[in-house]
Amino acid sequence: MISKRNQVQRVIKDNNSYIFKTFAQADDFMNEVELLKILKEDGANVPNILEEGHNFLFLEDLGDETLLNGFESMEKHNRTEYKDLILKLSKWLEIFYSITFSRYGKKLILNDVNFRNFILFENEIYGIDFEQSCTGAIETDAGKLSAYALTYEPSITQWKIDFRNELIDILSEELNIDRQQILNEEKKEIKSIENRRKISLDNYWNLL
Ligand SMILES: Nc1ncnc2c1ncn2[C@@H]1O[C@H](COP(=O)(O)OP(=O)(O)O)[C@@H](O)[C@H]1O
Ligand SMILES: [Mg+2]
Repeated sequence: MISKRNQVQRVIKDNNSYIFKTFAQADDFMNEVELLKILKEDGANVPNILEEGHNFLFLEDLGDETLLNGFESMEKHNRTEYKDLILKLSKWLEIFYSITFSRYGKKLILNDVNFRNFILFENEIYGIDFEQSCTGAIETDAGKLSAYALTYEPSITQWKIDFRNELIDILSEELNIDRQQILNEEKKEIKSIENRRKISLDNYWNLL
């Protein structure tokens, strides 16, 4: 499975399929385990922990349909009925922020909101990757989501611009967050993407 930080594998045992995730960093492991447990206890859609060991987890297998697959396949087929999907994502985020705020009394964000960190399973959105979660502003997660929506390859197509506009409309409305701040965070993330990929996304800056 695609993982930049850890080792993630699907394993089949006794006719059942599991996800085996080994963590490169001990504190990432602890962050993720704690959040997975709290989120599950409080009713968020996250995978069950089936077994926990020293720096590894066996997780419930939620299948292969990441948010990124769904997103890419909609664009490929030029489908624009993504409103429900974005509403589901927004609902999932709202639940995450509300559970973590009531547990910790401070504002936690996901931080790593790449579209592979959400899975579409039984018609619902599940969040799966919490090791980078930290305190912050919800607008930062929202701005990264919109920056990622624009920049998966092929980047900044008209379809992606429309999706991103709907995403920002829905997130600002449903999560009650500031649109201008989302756009500022989006810009910041676009700059980091330009640095990471050593490219310039001129079409983006011309959009503004
Ligand atoms: N419970 C799960 N069910 C199905 N696929 C999963 C599950 N957990 C992880 N994956 C797959 O493995 C990939 C990497 O897992 P992730 O937890 O995001 O690790 P990393 O922290 O290294 O990014 C995910 O993008 C997803 O495709
Ligand atoms: Mg991940």
